[in-house]
Amino acid sequence: MENEVQKKRILSGIQPSGDLTLGSYLGAIRNWAALADEYDCYYMMADMHTITVRQVPAELRRHTLVQLAAYIASGLDPEKNVLFVQSHVPAHAQLGWVLDCYTMFGELSRMTQFKDKSAKNADNINAGLFTYPALMAADILLYQADLVPVGGDQKQHVEICRDIATRFNGLYGDTFKLPDPYIPKVGARIMSLTTPTSKMSKSDKDQNGCVYMLEKPEDILRKFKKAMTDSDACVRFDPENKPGVSNLMQIYSVATGRDYAAIEAEFAGQGYGSFKTAVGESVVELLRPIREETERLLADKAYLESVYRAGAEKAAYVANRTLSKVYKKVGFLAR
Ligand code: TRP
Repeated sequence: MENEVQKKRILSGIQPSGDLTLGSYLGAIRNWAALADEYDCYYMMADMHTITVRQVPAELRRHTLVQLAAYIASGLDPEKNVLFVQSHVPAHAQLGWVLDCYTMFGELSRMTQFKDKSAKNADNINAGLFTYPALMAADILLYQADLVPVGGDQKQHVEICRDIATRFNGLYGDTFKLPDPYIPKVGARIMSLTTPTSKMSKSDKDQNGCVYMLEKPEDILRKFKKAMTDSDACVRFDPENKPGVSNLMQIYSVATGRDYAAIEAEFAGQGYGSFKTAVGESVVELLRPIREETERLLADKAYLESVYRAGAEKAAYVANRTLSKVYKKVGFLAR
């Protein structure tokens, strides 16, 4: 128990806004599994953030459960990691409100994700989309997290979280630990297969650019066969001039454990055809056991329920301790 207390804490989350992509698997979830021994880890399905963009309710529910099953199937052992649904822990909404009152209109207006998302959802620029970063700050600060594993696009959110925490600590004395972003070196940024200059994303309009974690093998192979490359027919790592080929090499490298030199040697003198097929097959093999395990878990609803209930209970215990400190500091009358 003594050691448990000293472990550094990690918190991260993914929005259940669609099917998980190969990018979230390689860039995030896959790396999380390795952290469980060294850190005290909390991972959530950020369903409260998801409704900042309009969702079909039944789909949101399904995506949340599938995401939990996929987390477990990817090696996140629920005995060693706290896996929970954000909306199951009311402290997120409660601290989110308090932090709204310590977050400035000006700083929220400058957030790149807010600007991007309001451009994409011009008919639904709601207040939740605007205050999204304050809720995310609550997610992190409630757990006094030391590290927040995120992709590069979320770094600005961790920075504003630190700013909010610093402001609050400055007014009321030490309350929140200041978190650092934790950006994995390998596979952090998997690019679209059709537009290799932008990140692989489930919101991409071109569905051929995005491979899903639980997609059927034949669909995965087809997408890799169609992947955008270039005209010089040489497998060489050069992200600047050969973004498509380099992205495929990155994926192949993570899937097979081979380095770029070995991959270049393997395909020297061959066209892109056999390379693309090999990459596709490596991804199919990498994902096969995860897909099968996810399907098996989804057939066992009672087990998944027991996992998210236990997760919510453990998460709420930690979160409520921070929340009651905050309530006291801001002057709320104790009940
Ligand atoms: N905003 C994150 C994303 O879209 C998801 C998220 C919500 C998150 N709360 C978080 C990530 C807390 C890390 C920590 O990817």
